[in-house]
Amino acid sequence: MKVLLAVTGGIACYKSPEIVRRLVDNGVEVRVIMTHSACEFIKPLVFQAVSGFPVHTELLDEQAEAGMGHIELARWADVLLIAPATANTLAKMVAGTADDLLSTVCLATTATQIVAPAMNSMMWYHAATQANIETLQSRNVTVLGPGEGSQACGETGVGRMLEPADIVRALVDLKDQSGVDKTLAGKQVLITAGPTREDVDPVRFISNHSSGKMGFALARAASIAGARVTLVAGPVSLDTPAGVSRVDVTSAESMHKAVMQVVSEADVFIAVAAVADYRVAEQSESKIKKTSADMVLRLERNPDILADVSALPNRPVCIGFAAETDNLEGYARDKLTRKNLDMIIANRVGVAGNGFNSDKNAVEVFWPDGHQSFTARSKQSLALELIGLISTRCLSK
Ligand code: PMT
Repeated sequence: MKVLLAVTGGIACYKSPEIVRRLVDNGVEVRVIMTHSACEFIKPLVFQAVSGFPVHTELLDEQAEAGMGHIELARWADVLLIAPATANTLAKMVAGTADDLLSTVCLATTATQIVAPAMNSMMWYHAATQANIETLQSRNVTVLGPGEGSQACGETGVGRMLEPADIVRALVDLKDQSGVDKTLAGKQVLITAGPTREDVDPVRFISNHSSGKMGFALARAASIAGARVTLVAGPVSLDTPAGVSRVDVTSAESMHKAVMQVVSEADVFIAVAAVADYRVAEQSESKIKKTSADMVLRLERNPDILADVSALPNRPVCIGFAAETDNLEGYARDKLTRKNLDMIIANRVGVAGNGFNSDKNAVEVFWPDGHQSFTARSKQSLALELIGLISTRCLSK
């Protein structure tokens, strides 16, 4: 994806270099144009350094016309992102003014246009700005934000530019959406993610290192592929992917209950959660005092959520995960058969940079008569590929 970032003259433009850096980290090609007012706040050199390309500021620039003039820039971009977008820029877009580089590019491009407004909250709520936003939306311009909070002018309210991470997430979603077929359109997908916590007493618990990243990435990928997604999540600190409906739980028993309540509607169940196999048999209602040198906790088995779902009479397609330190294929195939699954996704754990709590994962996928390997890649892109594989192998029969 090629993103033309346009920076206009608002104080929020001090955050825009961070947008460039994050987009580049996500494999997006970025070029930058700046209005003259933006150059009063921040030097073009900053954007040149983070993007690695010269910054464009002039409509009539002999050098630029020989290289990338306004028409070339307008043609080059897949996405025109204006961040921050001032009230003045929004008004010029609506009016169709073409008196500088940015306004001319806005008219000349067929790229997807996205604006991240930033202004004082009175300016945001002014009838003129609100009418301009409505007009831009009716012309298919996507409006991201603005957010709420303290503002550079000293006031508090709506008008802050969204954080760079939120803007970039929206763009990366757009990039992924454009490359993914809607193979799960009309399907309901149920996913478990994260760890469970088994209380010992009111202040202590037993848990594991699952961050929820793999399960959340799959929920996002399934939603991008057109599914209605319910995500039953253990205790994690992750944002809910766009369009996904989330149920928060804590223990294995509460995860089991939440899954059983909604599973009858599911076409596909993907068990990514690292569910505690055991819980503490006698949980103490008060804090256990350290009166002796050692302590024995008796543990009892938790229900196996995946096995219980796959044993249902009208069961959905059942996909399991296997977290193994050794004999990956042997243990994974054993679980595939024993838990009566359609597919199992095995990852090696206990290896730095893979499995638990990392941003990347490498997996071996097994189904009754087949196998496919996925070398290490980001959990986000792995999830998109796994959803593609699940659609082909398990749903298109
Ligand atoms: O969350 P991250 O930090 O991104 O890490 C991802 C992950 C390593 C947790 C994930 O990729 C993974 O491997 N999840 C499964 C971990 C696990 O518990 O594996 P298992 O081999 O113990 O269980 C096999 C399958 O049965 C899993 O699908 C599990 O969700 C399911 N299960 C297990 C026990 C139980 N009581 N109920 C279950 O549903």
